[in-house]
Amino acid sequence: MTRSALRFLRRGAIVEISSLEPTLTVLDYLRLDEKSRGTKEGCNEGDCGACTVVLGSIRNGKIAYEPVNACILFLGQIDGKELVTVEDLAEGGKLHPIQQALVSEHASQCGFCTPGFVMSLFALYHGNRKSDRQQVVDQIAGNLCRCTGYRPIVDAALKACNGSPADRWTRNARETAERLGALDDGSDLFIGSEQRFFAAPASGEALSALTLKHPDAIFVAGSTDAGLWVTKQLRTLPKIIHLGRVRELRSIAETNATLSLGAAVTYSEAQPFLARLDPDLGEMLRRLGSKQVRASGTIAGNIANGSPIGDTPPALLALGARLELRHNGTSREIALEDFHVDYGKQDRAAGEVVWRVDIPKLRKNEHFRCFKISKRFDQDISAVMGAFKLTIEGAHVAAARIAFGGMAATPKRARQAEGRLIGARLDRPESWQPALDALGADYQPISDMRASAAYRGETARALLLKALHEIAGGSSQATRIVGMRGEAA
Ligand SMILES: Cc1cc2nc3c(=O)[nH]c(=O)nc-3n(C[C@H](O)[C@H](O)[C@H](O)COP(=O)(O)OP(=O)(O)OC[C@H]3O[C@@H](n4cnc5c(N)ncnc54)[C@H](O)[C@@H]3O)c2cc1C
Ligand code: FES
Ligand code: FES
Repeated sequence: MTRSALRFLRRGAIVEISSLEPTLTVLDYLRLDEKSRGTKEGCNEGDCGACTVVLGSIRNGKIAYEPVNACILFLGQIDGKELVTVEDLAEGGKLHPIQQALVSEHASQCGFCTPGFVMSLFALYHGNRKSDRQQVVDQIAGNLCRCTGYRPIVDAALKACNGSPADRWTRNARETAERLGALDDGSDLFIGSEQRFFAAPASGEALSALTLKHPDAIFVAGSTDAGLWVTKQLRTLPKIIHLGRVRELRSIAETNATLSLGAAVTYSEAQPFLARLDPDLGEMLRRLGSKQVRASGTIAGNIANGSPIGDTPPALLALGARLELRHNGTSREIALEDFHVDYGKQDRAAGEVVWRVDIPKLRKNEHFRCFKISKRFDQDISAVMGAFKLTIEGAHVAAARIAFGGMAATPKRARQAEGRLIGARLDRPESWQPALDALGADYQPISDMRASAAYRGETARALLLKALHEIAGGSSQATRIVGMRGEAA
């Protein structure tokens, strides 16, 4: 069954839209069509959080509220969800507890950033737990304030996000869940014409038929890259196929040996599974973008976009991840390291979908580390991203997989360093030197605005040394800012 109208829940009612520019953003819809101008436009690229709105959806039988950047989210992507904006919060002339706490703590001056903070904190408020300072700081890492300063904002959050929420959303939870359940009708969404459309198929079969008919259509998963093509590069994307509703792509499956993530699984959904696989993966995701970016963006998108500075590909390369790709009803599997062929070139045909990412779990004698080096701690692109998996037998390195981002035209393994590490002893640091030296032959990094070539080379060596030092049992407390292995951040 195909539906030709977008449907979402807004202020307790179903909104239906049957005519839509494929790349109309949620922000433009709110400000220009709905005339709800509380949600602000700052950077228009997902960085400042002024446009933060909250989406409600059913997850594991309960409503989950997550903040997203309305400026880079296409309206079609919110099909089946509840859209909450800053105008909705006050009730009967009384401010919402989040808003009241921001007022009481003097946490707003010019006020431009405030609606975005309110909405990020509204999502935290509905997290149903007493928040600590670190959780608050993580929650607002994607919201910039340039005049008040963060201390009063954090204080307000600590005051308001202190356990069980009590507002209109909690009172109406059952009714809202029923409405969201009814919106999830399993139909394929297609709005527009054969020349210009936004489509969101609900099944793999429907996706396959659509890609066969429209090999020139653009896939969109979270649109944390694709959104910027529209808002910053002013590109016209007449045909959009959104992957977020494809049932099969939403799956997370685990065996003793493998974690499999469907291509539409978001970072925030994948985060607990990856953190269980190894704490460094959880820590890397905590620093990837912001809550807003992680609520929309996907690991498959991070791979498919082919960026040499994406954070997850080096870690997945070191872990030996494999991809399933599907096209026109046929499926093939490849190692991730064979996918990134060259700068801007991936082993993917037009219309071929990255379907699933299979990540091998670590065996008892396998040790993993990954480190992200960026200028800012939160929400920054890596200058260098290093990932290491060593198989240890006795005190010897029996096998090594080392991969870096930011060091070459693609995320790339360090084959020469890996070879030189075989047989090295953890208890003899002098035996690590050939591998450290070999990194110079593995990579010829470039200088750009994020780092110089010399800095990148030095940093890569330092990260390999740090991984070896930690795996050998040394303490790295002084060089890990937070999230020491086994410790809460
Ligand atoms: C503010 C901000 C901060 C960011 N910070 C980071 C960061 O710290 N680290 C980092 O690595 N990245 C970062 N990013 C980049 C971005 O979040 C990632 O690249 C993200 O993983 C892209 O996933 P997506 O689902 O949003 O992809 P989209 O934008 O939807 O798509 C990206 C590309 O991949 C293609 N594509 C997506 N899914 C598939 C699929 N299943 N099969 C085939 N093709 C597909 C699309 O056609 C498009 O070409 C940031 C982005 C923003 C806006
Ligand atoms: S306007 Fe800055 S994140 Fe959207
Ligand atoms: S109050 Fe002015 S930018 Fe935050």
